[in-house]
Amino acid sequence: MQANITLKEIDEVVAAVKERADISPRIGLILGSGLNDFAASVENPTYIPFGDLPHWPVSTVKGHSGRLVLGQLEGQDVFVMQGRIHFYEGYTMSQVTLPIRVMQRLGIEIMIVTNAAGGIADDFYPGDVMLITDHINMPGLVGQSPLHGPNIEELGPRFPDMTQAYDPELLALARKVAKENGVPLHEGVYMGLSGPSFETPAELRFMKMIGADSVGMSTVPEVAVARHGGIRVMGLSGISNKAHTQPEFVASHEDVLQAGKQIVPKMETIIRGVLRAL
Ligand code: HPA
Repeated sequence: MQANITLKEIDEVVAAVKERADISPRIGLILGSGLNDFAASVENPTYIPFGDLPHWPVSTVKGHSGRLVLGQLEGQDVFVMQGRIHFYEGYTMSQVTLPIRVMQRLGIEIMIVTNAAGGIADDFYPGDVMLITDHINMPGLVGQSPLHGPNIEELGPRFPDMTQAYDPELLALARKVAKENGVPLHEGVYMGLSGPSFETPAELRFMKMIGADSVGMSTVPEVAVARHGGIRVMGLSGISNKAHTQPEFVASHEDVLQAGKQIVPKMETIIRGVLRAL
């Protein structure tokens, strides 16, 4: 297996970002499938295609255009990842989470992460949005953790706490903003998998049984690294399809992109409101 990304490599990326954009962002945003257009509203933007950065893995998935956008949103200096990298593309967990280390070394305090997910809970439908209150890191539980390998003490502790992976204050703020703006908001546990195949009905019944409300192929490695690095996290799942526990339904990547269109305005309202309040 390829070696983990080193601190020196992380700091080379940080230096390359600083060379292009003269800001010290406080907030990092990761925009998942279908949400890329939100990044278009960043003010005074500096765009850095992922391919321009050293060591940076480049996304290959349709709907993930793959660049950094640095600028302002709702008066906050932000570091936006327009598109993300997934483990199923063939990168290591360490590569997948390099952007979070770069955020950390840039001094980012808060990360807002979004994803497209299948709805496992009975009352979740395509187009709904779920505030992530906790997660199940399935790859991490069986040995594919981004924190596997020698711990870099400068970045965080060997055994990081995950009891409050999603920051209680940010959760409260998201609930308040959603309520004030009349945005319906579910809450629940996100199940993170490696993908790229969708789940079998038996797998989904298992996930439901152990407490998962939504399921997807991203986010949990990023959140694990953010928490290791002391970054506070808020996460939103956009429900792109129902994850059926009976063999009656085939999910496709096109469904994911389609439901994204209903999800975007809801997520945008919540994220903008949270940014304004921070
Ligand atoms: N399963 C896994 N990942 C997903 C799904 C799903 O049903 N929908 C969007 N991403």
